[in-house]
Amino acid sequence: MANRWRNTLTTADVTPEAMFLNRRQVMAGAAAMGLGLTAAPLRAATGLEPNSYEDITSYNNYYEFGTGKEDPARNAGQLTTDPWTIKIDGLVEKPGDYVLSDLIPQMTTEERIYRFRCVEAWSMVVPWNGFELADLLDLVGVKPEAQYVAFETLYRPEEMPGTRFPVLDWPYREGLRLDEARHPLTLLATGIYGKPMPNQNGAPIRLVVPWKYGFKYIKSITRITLTDKQPKTSWNMANAREYGFYSNVNPQVDHPRWSQATERRIGGGLFARREPTLMFNGYDEVASLYEAMDLRKNF
Ligand code: MTE
Repeated sequence: MANRWRNTLTTADVTPEAMFLNRRQVMAGAAAMGLGLTAAPLRAATGLEPNSYEDITSYNNYYEFGTGKEDPARNAGQLTTDPWTIKIDGLVEKPGDYVLSDLIPQMTTEERIYRFRCVEAWSMVVPWNGFELADLLDLVGVKPEAQYVAFETLYRPEEMPGTRFPVLDWPYREGLRLDEARHPLTLLATGIYGKPMPNQNGAPIRLVVPWKYGFKYIKSITRITLTDKQPKTSWNMANAREYGFYSNVNPQVDHPRWSQATERRIGGGLFARREPTLMFNGYDEVASLYEAMDLRKNF
């Protein structure tokens, strides 16, 4: 019970941009002083109280390991995540098979405490460790013709019991428009709470796009392709009426089978009041990316 997360957030508490800039300053300051890092001052300053490690690692969606919320924690232990190679190809200057352990030391890794909103109308707050996807894109060099980034999850049936069932067309696929991918909020996460990414959460590296529904956060990425065409995505292929390419959190556009106006906080207890869902999950600074678009059509 000590770990129970209690909601103290109001709309006014959600200042993600200030928060992540802050974090960089905190990190830089701490590094300069040679201090060990702790997220405590930042958390207190922003009021974003993360869910417990237990919540974040025991209530998961990772269909390659089963469709139940407890299946990934139960079944993902057998996944081999080291060594890990990411193929980066398509419209890039330096395509290749990048070994993750060589890549990570070249990136600026930091902690980002973000709200997480699942399309199933539940939410958490997660302290991710990771680096900006933009930094990786700069490292490999994006060609001017590229407009989108496509991602693929590992497909290894012998370690992924859920892939025996045709729930989705494996491998799991996702995509972003290039400006979304380059946005400084967009991360490739390699850990949670300063610990290496647990297998059930998408070890060793997964996408984090905090203004989009959770299914965009593709796990255990083995391929990143720069392209000039909008990539196919697993959930859109499975049900285009219910899952669009953009999948921005939007309380005004309901899922065909349920409302998106409110959300249930995981860890808040069975009788916790549902909270209103915020446009772009509260990350208003991304609104300019969609200014010219009808977000009812482009859901
Ligand atoms: N990635 C893969 N490869 N397979 C999946 O089934 N599920 C998605 C996303 N990434 C999924 C995936 C969905 S629906 C959600 S809500 C989030 O992962 C859940 O992330 P979490 O388990 O870390 O909370």
